[in-house]
Amino acid sequence: MHKEPELRLTSVSVRLGGKQVLEDIDLHLKGPGLVLIMGPNGAGKTTLLKTIMGLLKPSKGRVIICGEDVTGNPRKAMRYASYVPQLPPTMHGYPLTPLELLSFTRIPPEKAAEALKSVDVPEEYWSRPIDELSAGLRQRVFIAQAVARETPLILLDEPLSAVDPAARVEISNMLGRLSKERLLLVTCHDPAVLLPYTRHIILLKRRIYASGPPSEALTLENASKVYGSAALKLGVHLHIADSH
Ligand SMILES: Nc1ncnc2c1ncn2[C@@H]1O[C@H](COP(=O)(O)OP(=O)(O)OP(=O)(O)O)[C@@H](O)[C@H]1O
Ligand SMILES: [Mg+2]
Repeated sequence: MHKEPELRLTSVSVRLGGKQVLEDIDLHLKGPGLVLIMGPNGAGKTTLLKTIMGLLKPSKGRVIICGEDVTGNPRKAMRYASYVPQLPPTMHGYPLTPLELLSFTRIPPEKAAEALKSVDVPEEYWSRPIDELSAGLRQRVFIAQAVARETPLILLDEPLSAVDPAARVEISNMLGRLSKERLLLVTCHDPAVLLPYTRHIILLKRRIYASGPPSEALTLENASKVYGSAALKLGVHLHIADSH
């Protein structure tokens, strides 16, 4: 990694199918750390990640990564950012092994090995078909693919949604470790497990309702604005009651 991570969005609005999905998103993040993006189903979280990756072109506004304008340009965005899309709950029939997946995406063998180690995939699984691995290991393999690209930013869409509670804790811990050197943007429906590693929270529902350190952004008042009555305060813990 050569560049200090930096992401700037200025007045980004996105329309999909005639509908305004993101509106006037302004954001500036600099330096490593884990940024949690929260919001209910349909809030625009995935749209935001795809827009940052240049895969969707905003109707207005610019996306700047590490000083370079990457708006609507995935090839440029990929120089600085890697994207781990949300995985399906099962991958029956997926034929590649972890090593094959990484080499297929042009990652040299020594870098692949280093990346798989860094996300705690034991070597005994490196040459087994991915569809035979547990959901937690599968998720780690796809994170390894991003880590191996050595970009200053990694975007992860719901990396905890397909995995069981024990794996959620372990993967959160691993993401916390990765965020020491990189800027990680992570969408997640349940903040509790990632919160200890989170530097910044964004509450999103078409526009940004709150953005800042968890203690400032994740208040019951702010959470109620995006989640309505699903935001519950249980003792000192804020709980979002939804289907995830
Ligand atoms: N290609 C598309 N064409 C039209 N509308 C779309 C398209 N993709 C997404 N949308 C709409 O944009 C809105 C935001 O979707 P998005 O997938 O970004 O939400 P999300 O916050 O990631 O939701 P979830 O928590 O379910 O993953 C939704 O209303 C969705 O129906
Ligand atoms: Mg989504």
